[in-house]
Amino acid sequence: MSAVAEQVRIRPLNELDIARIVSIDERLTGVYRPEVWERRIMYYLRRDPDASQVAELGGKVVGFMLADIRGGEFGLEETGGWIERFGVDPDFQGRSLGRKLFEAVVVHLKRQGAATVRTLVEKSDSELASFLRAVGFKDAPLAALEMRIS
Ligand SMILES: CC(C)(COP(=O)(O)OP(=O)(O)OC[C@H]1O[C@@H](n2cnc3c(N)ncnc32)[C@H](O)[C@@H]1OP(=O)(O)O)[C@@H](O)C(=O)NCCC(=O)NCCS
Repeated sequence: MSAVAEQVRIRPLNELDIARIVSIDERLTGVYRPEVWERRIMYYLRRDPDASQVAELGGKVVGFMLADIRGGEFGLEETGGWIERFGVDPDFQGRSLGRKLFEAVVVHLKRQGAATVRTLVEKSDSELASFLRAVGFKDAPLAALEMRIS
C-alpha cells in the first residue's frame, strides 16, 4: 500500500466539515455557496447523523457523500437509502475515494435495514452516471417526473 493510501480515513460527517465541503463544491462548480451547504448539511445531520461520510487524506477532508434512510416514500414500501450530493476534490479524484465513501455509506444503510440504495442523476451528467454505474448502480424501474410551476 502506498503512503498516500495509508492516510485515507473515511468517517461520519459532522458540522465542522461544512467549510471544507463548501470549498470542495466551489472547486467543482465554480460557485461559492456557504449558506446552501450549511442548510443542507445540518438537514442531513438531523435526519441521520451517521449516514453521510467524508474522506480525509492526511487529516484534510477531500471528499464527501450525503446520504439518508427513508421508508415509505414515493409509495416504495421498503426502507431504502438515498444518496444525494457527493464530490471529491479535483486534486484527489481517481484514487478510489468516491468508491470508499460509497462503501461506507452502504455499510451504514444496510445496518439500518435498507435493502436498496437510490439516487437521481441528470441524464446529461455522464461523469456522475459513470461513477455510479462503476460502483454498481443500474437503471431503476421508476420514472422521474417534473412540471414547472413558475
Ligand atoms: C464522481 C466522483 C465523486 C468520483 O470520485 P473519485 O474518487 O474520483 O472516484 P473513484 O476513484 O472512487 O472511482 C470509482 C469508479 O468510478 C469510475 N469513475 C469515477 N469518475 C469517473 C468519470 N468521470 N468517468 C468515468 N468513470 C468514472 C472509476 O473509473 C472507478 O471505476 P473502477 O473502480 O471500476 O475503476 C468525483 O469524480 C467527483 O466529485 N466529480 C464531480 C462531481 C460533482 O461535480 N459534484 C457536484 C457537486 S455536489
